Amino acid sequence: MENKLRVDVLTLFPGMFQGPMTESMMWKAQDRNLLDLHIHDIRDFSTDKHRTVDDAPYGGGGGMLMRTDVVVRAVESLVTPGTPVILTSPQGRVFSHAIAKELAGYDQLTILCGHYEGIDDRVRQLVVTDEISIGDYVLTGGELAAMVIIDAVVRHIPGVLGAEGGADVESHADGILEGPHYTRPPVFRGLEVPQVLQQGDHAKIAQWRREQGLRRTWQNRPDLLLRARLTDDEKYLLAVFADEYNHSQ
Ligand code: ADE
Repeated sequence: MENKLRVDVLTLFPGMFQGPMTESMMWKAQDRNLLDLHIHDIRDFSTDKHRTVDDAPYGGGGGMLMRTDVVVRAVESLVTPGTPVILTSPQGRVFSHAIAKELAGYDQLTILCGHYEGIDDRVRQLVVTDEISIGDYVLTGGELAAMVIIDAVVRHIPGVLGAEGGADVESHADGILEGPHYTRPPVFRGLEVPQVLQQGDHAKIAQWRREQGLRRTWQNRPDLLLRARLTDDEKYLLAVFADEYNHSQ
């Protein structure tokens, strides 16, 4: 059975979602009825004639905050009990493959895009159930973060990706990165596609790919190796990489 995910996004900039959410896989997911995406303008929930959504912080300090009354009204107009309400903000838990997979298990998600200096903290207390950051840097708003989250989550819905290259056989799925890939021609500017890939022995190819993934992880993301489940042979390979490195210095 294929499951469908409904995502409601609350944003001050709905136009930002045009393009990223209307092309390629995000479009296909909607076309195949696997993603039901609704983008809502928070400004539509303000009640004054200027459609105000922000206000100055108590206690002073720079910048404006999103108003609690407008945002809470917007969230409460959409959310059914039990639906996660995710606030995108640099203060949240850091997004990952595991969190993407976890969120893909829900039927419905609401994403509230933070903006300005932040949000009145009572919004967190009253309606937010989860707070997610996409990395240790600060964006000008939570919209790009929301799109990153939606993209990474939707890839886990069965039927969105083809049978090949599913979300469970790629970088991060088992804690290490993927190795290199090649397509034709077999030689380009003197660089040859590794023989093992051209020869078609699937067991050897699988082993080669794992080794290459391990090598790439060792080079680029050694932090991941602390948590990865490795066989004794793989641990031995890491020692070989370290040895090679020491000899090249
Ligand atoms: N808003 C601003 N910076 C952000 C980040 N790093 N992640 C999520 N939302 C944000």
